[in-house]
Amino acid sequence: MHGHDLSAAVAENYLAFAREAHGRSPMYEALAMAVADDAGVGGFLSSLPAAKRQPNLLFAAARYLLGAPPEIDDLRSLVSRDGERLASVMREKRTQTNEPARCATLLPALAGLPPPLALIEVGASAGLTLLVDLYSYDYAGHRLPGRDPLAPTLRCEPHGPVPFPAEVPEVRWRAGLDLNPLDVTSDDDVRWLSCLVWPGEGDRGQRLAAAVATARRRPPDVRRGDLLRDLPALAAQAPPDATLVVYHSAVLAYVAPADRRRFAATVRQLGAVWLSNEGPGLVPDLPVPAHAGAPFVLTRDGRETLAFTDSHGTWLRWLPDTGAG
Ligand SMILES: C[S@@+](CC[C@H](N)C(=O)[O-])C[C@H]1O[C@@H](n2cnc3c(N)ncnc32)[C@H](O)[C@@H]1O
Repeated sequence: MHGHDLSAAVAENYLAFAREAHGRSPMYEALAMAVADDAGVGGFLSSLPAAKRQPNLLFAAARYLLGAPPEIDDLRSLVSRDGERLASVMREKRTQTNEPARCATLLPALAGLPPPLALIEVGASAGLTLLVDLYSYDYAGHRLPGRDPLAPTLRCEPHGPVPFPAEVPEVRWRAGLDLNPLDVTSDDDVRWLSCLVWPGEGDRGQRLAAAVATARRRPPDVRRGDLLRDLPALAAQAPPDATLVVYHSAVLAYVAPADRRRFAATVRQLGAVWLSNEGPGLVPDLPVPAHAGAPFVLTRDGRETLAFTDSHGTWLRWLPDTGAG
């Protein structure tokens, strides 16, 4: 039975998170299941606006205050002892996980475009996924050196006919757009980013630290703005003699369906290449081929499905060319 204060929808949200964490983060899987059944934490969550009740936000905020990922008892006592502070961190912060490894799933698509590239990432968070050409890559032994020898190597398990590039693409210009850019030079922002990484996920924390160190050497230009309203003005600043690419990963789930549709129309009007690395069904009017267990789908121009991808960039399944694009 669920605690009576926690609505069925919120409890279901925590149970869905537990399923997502299964096999990735046993600790968060257990924590999410415990929260779904906890009247105290449930009551606390009901006091927050609906958009502020997500598991990722609660767990990261608790970790931010406690200095370590919480177990259910830590969370219960934090809620009863310091609920006000926890609520204020949750109101102030957002889930802005920036996973550099997602670059490994975008890279084959980017490297196949005519160079040089002008990159615009919408929903760029701290800009770590803007630095595609700086990282090195290892696709199960197929290696590609990046342009910054000190940057981390992103490992990604390739499946299917992946069009491996011979080198990382030449990027002439890049800019990000985010409702709330995180600043890689701010220790507090970096601490928040690290609190968003789930415990038990192998080297994700180290990869984040190495990518932050890379970004601190050349801080990415992430502007404050909305992907609908502010994209055309930013695109107008791109050099005209480069291939303009607008891309995003793990962003459209935060955008209302009607706005996704407007966004698609806006990108199409720019004449840019459009790469989307998102949960299935988030790109409007694009039927997604069935693939049980594929968390993300990489699509081009809202018309062509290129690959299934892991939401954290650890694997990539390229689809045979259908000739659709
Ligand atoms: C989960 S993060 C993903 C960050 C990065 N794309 C990655 O893959 O690591 C989603 C980001 O999208 C941003 N975002 C959400 N809605 C947005 C909008 N309408 N306009 C601009 N950014 C938005 C959030 O602020 C957040 O930083």
